[in-house]
Amino acid sequence: MKTQVCIIGGGPSGLMLSQLLHLKGINTVVLERQSREYVLGRIRAGVLEHGFAALMREAQCGERMDKEGEIHDGFIIAHDGKMDRIDLHKYSGGSSVVVYGQTELTRDLYEARDRMKGIVIHNAEDVQPHDLKSANPYVTYRNGDEVVRIDCDFVIGADGFHGVSRKSIPRDVLKEYEKVYPFGWLGVLSRTKPVSPELIYAKHERGFALCSLRSQVLSRYYIQVPLTDTVEDWSDEAFWAELKRRLPAEVAAKLITGASIEKSIAPLRSFVAEPMRYGNLFLAGDAAHIVPPTGARGLNSAASDIYYLYHAMVAHYQNGDSTGLDKYSEKALARVWKAQRFSWWMTTMLHTFPDSIAYDQKLQDTDLAYLFSSEKALGSLAENYVGLPF
Ligand code: APR
Ligand code: PHB
Repeated sequence: MKTQVCIIGGGPSGLMLSQLLHLKGINTVVLERQSREYVLGRIRAGVLEHGFAALMREAQCGERMDKEGEIHDGFIIAHDGKMDRIDLHKYSGGSSVVVYGQTELTRDLYEARDRMKGIVIHNAEDVQPHDLKSANPYVTYRNGDEVVRIDCDFVIGADGFHGVSRKSIPRDVLKEYEKVYPFGWLGVLSRTKPVSPELIYAKHERGFALCSLRSQVLSRYYIQVPLTDTVEDWSDEAFWAELKRRLPAEVAAKLITGASIEKSIAPLRSFVAEPMRYGNLFLAGDAAHIVPPTGARGLNSAASDIYYLYHAMVAHYQNGDSTGLDKYSEKALARVWKAQRFSWWMTTMLHTFPDSIAYDQKLQDTDLAYLFSSEKALGSLAENYVGLPF
């Protein structure tokens, strides 16, 4: 098989790039290790910055998002018995975010790929990129006993944190930066009316909690838990009771509980791999960097990678201009690190750290006090939350 761009990974990053390139007449093949049902069964975050929403529209995939997604102009930080609102619209100069589940967004991208007869190969086993430093790279995968080879101009590593692409960059070339937090988030999805029309991020001495939503009938809640906890340790009753303890009394009193439809624990981690290009391999999204979910930056950091890659590929194929490809790693990493900084800051400010000393706790309190006393600090939070420019 032959294509122009071979994309490893059929998550939001890979599908979005495939769709955008297709619309510019550039051929792609997407190789996904899992079945479509598996990919669409994964529950992921649900806040899209306006730049990502614009990319969805450009990819001709924004219709359902615009119909069913909710525009949020603000969110709440609950702390010290207070509920302080961040007016995103006011402090970001008129911007907002879209609340729309990443699972739904992935479904829309798959549907668009099907509509345009894009090639997405599922259950591709042992995917392996080859000859990445040459002008003729190729990717192989196994389909049962058969080994299939795909020749291409470029390979995109959009295969998430556990993918094969990053691992194919030699160890002496790749530098990895990592910070592991000493806790995870236990998340519950329930078919209940959300407790608040806007997200509530709650700082509490028992641990952080978040009230989020997917729609007016579907809620998503999280609580901070120790890394040693397992899902089996948490019955639905125990989860709701603990969530209520961490929310302001007036919110806890309104909380509608119900059976969990999904329950999982995700450890919190920050990670960046540099460079994001090796020969004709380009890394994008979770394959190159991950953030703790506190600032809702996961998918949104992937969005800028895709934006830069998309424009660089179009310039290369349409005008023979490879500047964008040559500058990709540097440009993408500059924005990636800003998203890392913001996610680290939100995480540090709002969580309870098991080994923190009294001095650290005073700084956390001061961080919040400063935030709500300074329009400039609120402006900084807002511009990062709605998404820095690409
Ligand atoms: N071969 C082929 N596909 C693979 C391989 C492999 N060796 N390893 C992983 N994959 C697939 C995974 O099954 C997954 O579907 O690559 C896909 C990567 O998708 P994501 O992990 O969703 O990563 P990405 O598309 O970059 O999405 C960005 O934003 O909110 C965050 O972490 C969240 O997934 C989200 C991310
Ligand atoms: C979610 O709805 O899953 C969600 C929202 C905001 C976050 C993290 C997760 O910061």
